[in-house]
Amino acid sequence: MTLTQHVRNGWYLGAWSDDVGRTLTQRWITDVPVCFYRLPDQTVTAVEDRCPHRKYPLSLGHLDDEGTLQCDYHGYRFDGRGVCVGVAEQADRPKAALRRFPLVEREGAIWIWPGDPELADESLLPDTSWLTDPSWTHVHGVVPLKARHMLLLENLLDLTHETFLHPTSIGNAAVAATPIDVTVDGDRVGFSRRMIGIEAPPFYEKSCGLTSPVDRWQDGDFYPPGIFVLNIRVAATGTEEPDGFHMKVLYGMTPGRGNETHDFYALGRDYLIDDQELTRFQHEQQLAVMQEDVDALEAQEIMYATDPGGTAESSIRSDLAALRGRRAVAKMLAREQRAQQDARTPHSRPSV
Ligand code: FES
Ligand SMILES: [Fe+2]
Repeated sequence: MTLTQHVRNGWYLGAWSDDVGRTLTQRWITDVPVCFYRLPDQTVTAVEDRCPHRKYPLSLGHLDDEGTLQCDYHGYRFDGRGVCVGVAEQADRPKAALRRFPLVEREGAIWIWPGDPELADESLLPDTSWLTDPSWTHVHGVVPLKARHMLLLENLLDLTHETFLHPTSIGNAAVAATPIDVTVDGDRVGFSRRMIGIEAPPFYEKSCGLTSPVDRWQDGDFYPPGIFVLNIRVAATGTEEPDGFHMKVLYGMTPGRGNETHDFYALGRDYLIDDQELTRFQHEQQLAVMQEDVDALEAQEIMYATDPGGTAESSIRSDLAALRGRRAVAKMLAREQRAQQDARTPHSRPSV
């Protein structure tokens, strides 16, 4: 597992809507510095956070009430479209414009496409309507992770680790003991695991007020390169779908700078939505579980980073979804690199 380059032609969760306002916010995405802000009409904008003059971070500059962004090194000013509109130094306007990234803001999430803007296709985003559906409630945030994106991706596509890494909350022996079904649809990878008549792990026992035995279903969908949605159902054993307790977890796995990753999360449920105490409990548990993952992935990152020779790995059946996920990302990266290569190679003249 050596994949450390990042796919850029894909949607990543760039920020939650409530993270971005009329101040300038820097976030590195796929090794690109990005400056997020809102224009006076509340439209969110993301530009490369390097001034075209001498590369000073624009996020250290100023945004005025009209939405003009000023670089605070030598005073270049940019309008809402990113075009330079002047500099105090001289009367004529420097020819310069900022690189702006395609964005989609919906249901409280801001999705960014760091690659070729021509390829940005909104239909590739998953359905996230539950984030604002009045019959659901959710909590969200972002956790910093000092480990490569691929390690987080594999963590989420192989939930057998719940048994070992999260034994006091969401994991127990049933998870590792139950095989998964894996489906591949184009670039997308899905898996499902049906645990029938099992002991309820503590998180679900408390979250749903259930006592064992329970049925627990996990259906995960990976939208490469960086989006994962887990559909969870827990019910008293024998309860028919669609009854029971429904939860969803959305993860935005967004590569940052080097081998750092932004671990965005949203945890939702469609029952007891006004129960603030339950919301607090679930949020606390979500963060505790994510911290266990962060600790594990950061420990793993050191081992991958100090093994440049790439010692061979051993794999088992439960790795299948994670291996398909790796393959999907590797294929996207290869496609992207081929397209860049083609763009660089001059076409040979047809012979006459
Ligand atoms: S670096 Fe921005 S104006 Fe000079
Ligand atoms: Fe985990």
